[in-house]
Amino acid sequence: MTEPVRYLGHGGIAIVEIGNPPVNALSAPVRRGLIDAIARAGRDPEVRAIVMTAAGRTWPAGADIREFDLPPTGPTLAEVCDAIETSAKPVVSALFGTALGGGLEIALAAQLRLAEAGTRLGLPEVTLGILPGAGGTQRLPRLIGAEAALAMMLGGKPISAERAEALGIVDAVVPGDVTDAATRLAVAIAGGEAPLPDAEERRTRQSAAVWLDAVAKARAQPLDPHLPAPRKIIDCVEAALLLPEAEGHAFEAEALAELKATPQSRALRHAFLAERRAARQPGLKGVAPLPVTRVGVVGGGLMGTGIAMAMLAAGLRVMLVEQTPDTLAAALGRIASAHDRAVQKGRLSPEAREAEWDRIAGTTLLSELDSAELIVEAVIEDEKVKARVFADLGRIASPQAILATNTSYLDVNRLAEASGRPARVLGLHFFSPANVMKLVEIIPADMTDPAAVATGFALAKRLGKHAVRSGNRDGFIGNRILTAYRTAADFLLEDGASPYDIDRAMVAFGFPLGPYRVADMAGLDISWARRKRLAPTRDPAARYVAIGDLLCEIGRLGRKSGRGYYRYDGDAEGGGAKEDPEVLALIARERERKGIVARPVQAGEIRGRLLAAMANEGVRLLQEGIARCPSDIDVVMMAGYAYPRWRGGPMMTADEVGLLALRDQLRRFAREDEEFWRPGPLWDELIKNGANFASLNRAFDEA
Ligand code: 3HC
Repeated sequence: MTEPVRYLGHGGIAIVEIGNPPVNALSAPVRRGLIDAIARAGRDPEVRAIVMTAAGRTWPAGADIREFDLPPTGPTLAEVCDAIETSAKPVVSALFGTALGGGLEIALAAQLRLAEAGTRLGLPEVTLGILPGAGGTQRLPRLIGAEAALAMMLGGKPISAERAEALGIVDAVVPGDVTDAATRLAVAIAGGEAPLPDAEERRTRQSAAVWLDAVAKARAQPLDPHLPAPRKIIDCVEAALLLPEAEGHAFEAEALAELKATPQSRALRHAFLAERRAARQPGLKGVAPLPVTRVGVVGGGLMGTGIAMAMLAAGLRVMLVEQTPDTLAAALGRIASAHDRAVQKGRLSPEAREAEWDRIAGTTLLSELDSAELIVEAVIEDEKVKARVFADLGRIASPQAILATNTSYLDVNRLAEASGRPARVLGLHFFSPANVMKLVEIIPADMTDPAAVATGFALAKRLGKHAVRSGNRDGFIGNRILTAYRTAADFLLEDGASPYDIDRAMVAFGFPLGPYRVADMAGLDISWARRKRLAPTRDPAARYVAIGDLLCEIGRLGRKSGRGYYRYDGDAEGGGAKEDPEVLALIARERERKGIVARPVQAGEIRGRLLAAMANEGVRLLQEGIARCPSDIDVVMMAGYAYPRWRGGPMMTADEVGLLALRDQLRRFAREDEEFWRPGPLWDELIKNGANFASLNRAFDEA
């Protein structure tokens, strides 16, 4: 086992090395070890200076997020920073890898900071619903001024070592081994050959007026009303100017404690850990992913071009296959215009666009995919068409190549069989627009070999997406939850709510768009086609809401036809969705036909029912073994369906509401419609054992 902090003597220099793999998080034993090491160096008359460094791949990436929900133990990180700042011997910190959060804060407390070229520095606490609470909100603005400090803390994005040097956060960027460079500097300081910077002199020269102006500007920008952390960060930066130093730190400590206890921070921390849990695949331990540099994409529709763009952005070579020269030209044209828009908006540099364009080629011949290491099929959602593509790919592709289907619903086993090489076939389900949405569902079929699955996970990471493993069952995880959500919404539509009431309620809950705006965007004909396909197997006794079908029958196919649940006059691109009395009249006629008397439906009921439907479907997915653990469902909904991250996903929200209350609601709803609402047995089991979805996640971690 690695020692949390090693103390090494080195000719008058104490080297203090943090060792807590994988990212040297500042957990309690590390904090204790640091305090002891600084004190020991202070006592040792031989020691003239201290070098603070870390073992392994990175300087500490922050406080240990897993400790946040445990009772506090040992010294706080703020106490560690105080010990470093007031150390009797100067401390030179040697930054490399990622110096984030508390990691950057301990460096800020040191007298000198060197960073290896390539180091990323940042204060991402805001993404966890908290603030830099080990003195970061006080020390950083004093060092670099309020505006730059606020930008780093409110944005949460890391910056480069060079930028950090330009801002005055680090004293120098060094090309080689930073610990060696820090040791040489410490020796020079000890020998009086290098001056020790005076803390007072290093303070920003920013005037109080400029400082307060930056604070006022930060307050005036549109801040998400759901999130308290940004406001608290601004308050702390103001306090850093207005309060005496010790009081400023106390103000920060209080703000941190308050934020840690908010449901938003609990949810954001859950989201961070859930994403890492989803990536953890115990069954793939030791299985090496296959190298992928050349990718084939079959189908240049919206999905195929989005997938191609995601691959290009990750540095891969792409061969895009379409059926005819015209459709191929249209597909490449779509990519070119998307790239143009990205350049215009400053999201892509002109050089990067050229480089990406050099890496894409198009063809109408499937046979040109013979050298691709991975091929993603994204043709229309028709089993016969897809099976034909897989049969062809089975003959054409190199024997090692991985063949992936982007199907949303179909049985991956059937496509694997059609290919004649099932061990190399799996589902990689992207979400539209695939170059933007951060989710890939990975669906191993019965015979998929582990190397192919490992390659899917490695590819997702390379694309910057969250991968979630799903069992191979109609709709996988995401579309199953979405269908339940939409069905519950449709029931309310028939019962008395308008689509606009429902959308407003869900936007107030935190979704960027409600279910009917989303349906209009996707195109109502897509789900209509699916419903028609499933009609022969539908239980005739099940409640069926036909409003979506009726809209399609009169040509209201959503945004693309200018009419759907909303009317899109003129500026459909800009979102100009208007409520439409025609739709309300159609719904009223349908209620009348079914003999339903509209009842008032409040926003609270809408949210309650839609959440209950999602959580209950989540329980079914767990019972059926399609989802491994509740947090995988949460990741799917946050990354693929814009479920508000600060609510942590439907299973986390269910925990916050309470399982007993939700189960009782489900039982009540089940009196109206047994089939849809009946709570699965897992609810009872968890409630009986005093457990919840978080306990299932923990059990998964411990297994
Ligand atoms: N605490 C605990 N575990 C952490 C962690 C942290 N701060 N950061 C990363 N880990 C763990 C992950 O859970 C994962 O564990 P696993 O292998 O068991 O699943 C492992 O380290 C590797 O992490 P990633 O898979 O994310 O590895 P990457 O190489 O892709 O990314 C990283 C590395 C950039 C460091 C990324 O993990 C990251 O951004 N970490 C969070 C950084 C952060 O938010 N720091 C601020 C913490 S809050 C704080 O410091 C409060 C203070 O101000 C008081």
